[in-house]
Amino acid sequence: MSYLNISRLKISYGEKVVLHNIDLAVAKGEMIALLGPSGCGKTTLLNALCGFINVNAGDISIAGRDITHSAPEQRNITMVFQSYALWPHLTVAKNIGYGLKLRKWRREDIDRRVEELLQIVNLVGLAEMKVTELSGGQRQRVALARALAIEPDVLVLDEPLSNLDAKVRLNVRHEIKSLQKRLGFTSLIVTHDQQEALVMADRIAVLNQGRIEQIGTPEDIYQRPATPFVADFMGADNRISSVDIQRCPQITLHASADSLLPPGQQQMIYFRSADVGIGQLTDSRPDQGLIIEGTVEQSAFLGNLYRHSVRCNNHLLLADAGACWQAGSSVRLHVPATALHIFASSHVR
Ligand SMILES: Nc1ncnc2c1ncn2[C@@H]1O[C@H](COP(=O)(O)OP(=O)(O)OP(=O)(O)O)[C@@H](O)[C@H]1O
Ligand SMILES: [Mg+2]
Repeated sequence: MSYLNISRLKISYGEKVVLHNIDLAVAKGEMIALLGPSGCGKTTLLNALCGFINVNAGDISIAGRDITHSAPEQRNITMVFQSYALWPHLTVAKNIGYGLKLRKWRREDIDRRVEELLQIVNLVGLAEMKVTELSGGQRQRVALARALAIEPDVLVLDEPLSNLDAKVRLNVRHEIKSLQKRLGFTSLIVTHDQQEALVMADRIAVLNQGRIEQIGTPEDIYQRPATPFVADFMGADNRISSVDIQRCPQITLHASADSLLPPGQQQMIYFRSADVGIGQLTDSRPDQGLIIEGTVEQSAFLGNLYRHSVRCNNHLLLADAGACWQAGSSVRLHVPATALHIFASSHVR
């Protein structure tokens, strides 16, 4: 039985429909990542959950209680913002205790709870600092502590890590994840970053133009994308059509019948540069998967590997390898059948 239920939710700004029939069921203690490109409706969905905007149609309930039209303060949902949204003139302790004061908690109870939260988010000793004296990572931890202080039924986080630099971001992301596991809060986190979603979430919902394209475990979304959009968004950076394969003798496909669509239907095949093996034309020819013969045009050093652009007729494909293949080398690319994501061309937008 799910804890947070969003059903057939529709939201528009004036004439413009921003969310279309969103269905999402979240279990208690689960963390869902909402992943999608800019403007697809992620923040709008969080705002609707918090009661900051009106819903045109559909329902939202928590533990069986309908909150679709409840005022924000009656929902017990808190939001952590990308910009932290802390009170600059207040200390760390006063920021964390702010929601408790509004709820008319007694002074000594607030102090005790704030002390507890400072420990939880690793900020012990900073209670009396002004938030303006803190680093970005510390500020975001204050914002998290403030949100957790009231023990929300659902915590929503809108790109909480985007203002942090890469290294701090990795730390804070692990901190949030381990806190979520330890305290067991139910949460929705918005991110643009596919890796962040993969690492943090129990399940990921991929949004595109106001619709959920796919919802599933990180493994489902990464290894079994349900639509071309999800394949592309999750980093399948190469694509090639079945028509190209028929026309081009340098490209052959041996895939199992069940991964292929009905014969006669045009197909689009997606795959990641990381899944492409590079070999010489004289190597023995693989007997399964996608095989492409071409010429290396360029290689770029990415730190842990080299990314090659390989030309085959009018196609330019990307292939990663630990070793660098020189420009001009004739190569054979091989993508195992299990790494191919095949869709009917009619689904490709
Ligand atoms: N107050 C508003 N009035 C009118 N249109 C709005 C308003 N807020 C958002 N929109 C539109 O709704 C759509 C979804 O916006 P939203 O902020 O939910 O996107 P998002 O997925 O959070 O994007 P980003 O990743 O850039 O934060 C966009 O097309 C946006 O222009
Ligand atoms: Mg947003």
